[in-house]
Amino acid sequence: MEDLIQINPSDQACGAEVNGVDLTKPLADETVAAIRSAWLDHHVLSFPNQPMTDDDLERFTLYFGDFGNDPFFDPIEGRQHIAAIRRDADEKSPLFAENWHSDWSFQAQPPAGTCLLGITIPPVGGDTLFADQHKALDAMPPTMRAQYGGLTAIHSAQMAYAPDGAYGEKDEGRSMAIRPDESARATQTHPLIREHPETGRLGLFSCLGYIIGFEGLPQQDALPLLQQLYAWQSREEFVYRHQWQADMLIMWDNRSVLHRATGGYDGHDRLLHRTTIAACQA
Ligand code: SIN
Repeated sequence: MEDLIQINPSDQACGAEVNGVDLTKPLADETVAAIRSAWLDHHVLSFPNQPMTDDDLERFTLYFGDFGNDPFFDPIEGRQHIAAIRRDADEKSPLFAENWHSDWSFQAQPPAGTCLLGITIPPVGGDTLFADQHKALDAMPPTMRAQYGGLTAIHSAQMAYAPDGAYGEKDEGRSMAIRPDESARATQTHPLIREHPETGRLGLFSCLGYIIGFEGLPQQDALPLLQQLYAWQSREEFVYRHQWQADMLIMWDNRSVLHRATGGYDGHDRLLHRTTIAACQA
């Protein structure tokens, strides 16, 4: 029987909760189409009460595109496309993904989306924040927008994943299987303001961190622009705060939102399984 899917938008900048669908079973084409449409509208979808296996997570991901290419992580044992986002109760290393970012924006074809399944969720803290980059662009004052119009951003994973980066050789005691590599120094350009490939809506793509400069601008000019932009992109009015439950799946659109992890759960384990959805092929 067809699912009676219900989409309940959050009262924040973006995000919606989806009920009336069982993700532990194959989905009808119409259900997948309804989820895709809600995902494009709300940018972040959460599906509570989904006791999914890794097979279920992979099947769900593939409804929306191929698996993305996840560099700098080892996958979990026995799977090629699932990574563990993990932090142990006694872990002291800096929090993973605490800065705003759009996943793997330094790739030539960055992933369209990311799926994250809550397995072990701490009783406090550990929310994931999302910032709507269509709203951030729409609300930008004209004088500020004029500073960014036409800029081409230079992206790189070097600050995070090069051997001397944040997750590099000095990063000790981390439970996650992060694998820094020299290849993180590669660069890739993307327009800073670009059309969403499926909706055509204009938005800001990625931010300081994976963006390391702008084409044709000296670093002393690019850095203050990137810092000012980062502060704008992450203003409270553009943010959705996601609170987790075990057996909750979320999927977000990397072309529309930035995201970041938060802490506040020292003394508790946290474990989620993650897949990425590749860019859609034209
Ligand atoms: C991520 O950026 O993939 C992780 C987000 C989180 O741990 O909340």
